[in-house]
Amino acid sequence: MAEERGQFSSRVGFILAAAGSAVGLGNMVAFPVMASKSGGAAFLIIYLFCIAFVCYPVMMAEIAMGRRSQRNPVGAFTDISGGIRRWRLVGMLGILTPFMIAVFYTVITVWLVVYIKEIALGGLETLAGDAAFGELVARPSLFLYLAFLLAIVFFVLLGGVKGGIERLARILMPTLAVMLLLLTVFVLTLDNAIAGITYYLIPDFSKVTPTVVNNAVSHAFFSLSLGMGILITYGSYFSKKDSIPHSTRMVAIADTSVAFFAGLLILPAIFAFDPNTTTDDLSTSSVSLIFSFLPKIFLSMQGAVGYVGASVVAAIFFTLVFFAALTSLVSIIEIPISCWIDEWKFSRKKAVVFQAAALTVFAIPATMSLGMSDFFTNFTSYGGISKSFFDVVSDVFYSTILPLVGFTVCIFAAYRWKMSGLSSELSVGDEGFEGSLLQKYMNFSLGTIIPVVLLVVFVSTLFQIYI
Ligand code: PHE
Repeated sequence: MAEERGQFSSRVGFILAAAGSAVGLGNMVAFPVMASKSGGAAFLIIYLFCIAFVCYPVMMAEIAMGRRSQRNPVGAFTDISGGIRRWRLVGMLGILTPFMIAVFYTVITVWLVVYIKEIALGGLETLAGDAAFGELVARPSLFLYLAFLLAIVFFVLLGGVKGGIERLARILMPTLAVMLLLLTVFVLTLDNAIAGITYYLIPDFSKVTPTVVNNAVSHAFFSLSLGMGILITYGSYFSKKDSIPHSTRMVAIADTSVAFFAGLLILPAIFAFDPNTTTDDLSTSSVSLIFSFLPKIFLSMQGAVGYVGASVVAAIFFTLVFFAALTSLVSIIEIPISCWIDEWKFSRKKAVVFQAAALTVFAIPATMSLGMSDFFTNFTSYGGISKSFFDVVSDVFYSTILPLVGFTVCIFAAYRWKMSGLSSELSVGDEGFEGSLLQKYMNFSLGTIIPVVLLVVFVSTLFQIYI
């Protein structure tokens, strides 16, 4: 017999869990760097605009699809379309995408675990060395940490929606917020911190190009965990008594606030390290920034707070990023699990065990992609660059497909489900929605400008990466 479907215990439970998913590596590092390279506050304004006018309606549509159908992405597309095969296939893309994103996100999270361990054992100085990252990611002992991480993640997922996912977010999200604030206050007291703030917050509109706008949309989309099936699934655990527009707004505000504060932390830290830094010195890749560059920055703080003090600051920062990554990882692995439960009628336990095995099969080659195995390291090449297995998964599923899934959600909601269906679901638990300005904006944009914007982002990403 099918188990009872899980549900978040309250609105706050949903908001924390969805914010746990949204707040991830993207917020902690990619956003601050992107903002400082792309005109500071000018980028911030464009980003906020994208969140409010492009992402917010898609977020609501995804959550509404989940709540209406009470199913995972495959079930949601199938159910609401009345069983049309084409839409079921689109739903499958909504399962494959999180499944594959989980693969390389797991590998990055494993590195975070190893970094925290190394720093705790006094190894900050070693990590700050130029060759440290390359050496560390090729260590066979990574498999030990992989097993450790997967044990934690699947233990949480075994606990279900309320006892696992929500409980984890209830503990980690407030802790993350407090740690972030404390660390930001500390960094702002360092010499030269003001240079970082200037770079970050003074608007420079001359840097705003079409590529910057493109990056702002795609980053906003990614940061809110859109196009990954996560919000469809979390929507299916969301109470009919609560308002989707209101809760969604809270999640978007929480996610954007964390990104903003991370900027106030990271950029002053970088400028305190070297006042002559220019944003050209900063890599756009979060991975190389977190793992190669930031240890150097933390080490440089030893002049002010001693080696132990610098190590403590570094340990707090990496723990913070680890918490952000862990809650995102849990959220993304829940999507295929919910599919196995709904579509294959697995018990949660069986679905978790199955998913753990499936993820492990892919996580092993991804772990071996950074030097451990030549085959997986030089897996293929395109766009004129040699690519590892890890790169392929990340390029295809992380950088490319999300806007496409978002596009299909818009087209589906606007033309298959129809705006009247979506509106009636959004009115459940929210009496004020019917007739509101928000409803009028959604009716106008979800089938027109938003899918066009997402399609443009999708196509331009194809050109950037593969051609
Ligand atoms: N919003 C997340 C981030 O900023 C994106 C994400 C969610 C990635 C879930 C992986 C898993 O990192």
